[in-house]
Amino acid sequence: MTDTTLIADRMDNLGDETAFKVGDDIRRAEENGLDVIRLNLGEPDFSSPENINAVAIENIRMGNANYCDPQGIMPLRESIARYVHKTRQVEIDPDQVVVTSGGKPPIGYSVLTYVNAGDEVIYPNPGFPIYESWIRYVNAVPRPLTLREDKNFRFDIEDLKPLISRKTKLIILNSPSNPTGGMLTQDDLDAIADLAARNAHPHFRILSDEVYEKIIFDSREHISILSNPRVTEHTILMNSHSKTYAMTGWRIGYAVLPTIEEARLFRQWNINTCSCVPPFIQAAAQQAIDDPANDTEVAQMTQQFETRRDAVIQALNEIPGICCMTPGGAFYAFPNISGICQALGILEHYERLREQGLNPIQPASMFQLFLIYHHGVATVDRSSFGSLFCENEHYIRLSLASDLDTLEEGVRRIGAASSDTEGWAQFKQDYKDLICQ
Ligand SMILES: Cc1ncc(COP(=O)(O)O)c(C=O)c1O
Repeated sequence: MTDTTLIADRMDNLGDETAFKVGDDIRRAEENGLDVIRLNLGEPDFSSPENINAVAIENIRMGNANYCDPQGIMPLRESIARYVHKTRQVEIDPDQVVVTSGGKPPIGYSVLTYVNAGDEVIYPNPGFPIYESWIRYVNAVPRPLTLREDKNFRFDIEDLKPLISRKTKLIILNSPSNPTGGMLTQDDLDAIADLAARNAHPHFRILSDEVYEKIIFDSREHISILSNPRVTEHTILMNSHSKTYAMTGWRIGYAVLPTIEEARLFRQWNINTCSCVPPFIQAAAQQAIDDPANDTEVAQMTQQFETRRDAVIQALNEIPGICCMTPGGAFYAFPNISGICQALGILEHYERLREQGLNPIQPASMFQLFLIYHHGVATVDRSSFGSLFCENEHYIRLSLASDLDTLEEGVRRIGAASSDTEGWAQFKQDYKDLICQ
C-alpha cells in the first residue's frame, strides 16, 4: 500500500486474534506436504443440540427473518433475566439485557461506551486478545494484571493493589479463563470488589466475561462477581452461547447492564453495527436456555472435555521440558515450555538475534511455528494472549476441542519436537523470515 493517508491512524492500534491467523501457517505447512493437527481454535468439536437447531429451522420456515428489536427480542431477554436471577441471585429487568452477535461485541461496546483516551483499564494477562485490542484502539492505558502460574493462574492481590486507582475506569475479568483455564475464587472476587469499590474511579465498571461458566471441572461451581452486592451495580455481565451450547458460528451472546440507560447505549451500538441479531437465531437461543434437556447436553460435553483434560495434562507433563498446570475450566491446556526452549537452544538463538540488532519473535512463538512447520501440530503462542509483559513467558495454548486420538497424536508430536535439535537447526535456517519481524 503506497498512500499512507488511505487508512485511518487508529487502525495501527487495532489488534487481532492469532488463533484465526494461524490458519495461514497451517495452509503453508500443508502445501509443504504436512498433515497438520489443529489444536489452535477455541471451538467445541460438538454440534449444537438438535432441539435448538429445530427451533431455528422452524422459525426460518415461518418467515421469522425480518429486522427485529435491536436490543433483542423480549422473550429471549426475559429468559436471560430469569436465568441470571436464578444463577446469580440478582434481580434483572429484561430491559437491562442486550442481545449481541456473540460474546465479542460486549467487549468492544464496553470499552467504547465507558473508556476515554487516557483512562486506565485493568485486564487479565495472559488473556483473551480482544481486550487489549480494544483498549489500545481507544488510546486507553492498558494495565495488565498478571495471572501467575504458581497460583494456578490466579492473580496475586499484591499485583492488583497498585493497579487500581481513581484512573481505573474498567476492570475486565474472565473466569474460567482463556487461555489458562484458571479460575478465580470467591476470595479473589471479593478482594477485587473491595479494592475497586474503595480505590477505583467513582463510576468504574467491571466487565465480567463468563463465556466459559458452564465448562467447569471437578464438580466445582461457577462464581460470578455480579452476585457481590458491593459491585453488582458496577458490573456488566457478558456471556455467549458459542462455547456453552457449541454454537460458535451462530453468533449469539448477551450483556446484562447495571442500568436500563446503559443497556440503551449498547442497543444503540447494535443499531450502529449489525441492526439486530437475526430473530430466528434469538428464538433458538431462547430454546437453548429454557429447555432443561440442554443442561444434560452441556454436562455431557463438559464431561468429555474433562476426560480429555486429564489425559492431555498427564501426557504433557511426561514430556521433559514441559510443566502444565491442571485447568479448572474452559477447554485449553497452557503448558510452560521454558525447558524445551532452553534444551533446543531457542532461548540462545533469540538472544543472539537481539544482539545482532534484529527484532525476533518471542521464543515460545518460534517453537509454536516449529511445531506447525516441522511437526504438523498447530497451537497458539503466549504473545497472542497479550503483547505486553510477555517477554520471558514461554507458553503455548492447546485447545482440547478435538477427539482423544487426535489430542494424543498432537501431544506425541509436541514430545517429538521437544528433543528434535536437528529439526530445529534446519527450521531456523529455512524460516528466517518468519522468526524475525
Ligand atoms: C474469553 C472469551 N471471551 C469472549 C469470547 C468471544 O466469544 P464469541 O465467539 O461468542 O464471540 C471468547 C471466544 O473465544 C473467549 O474465549
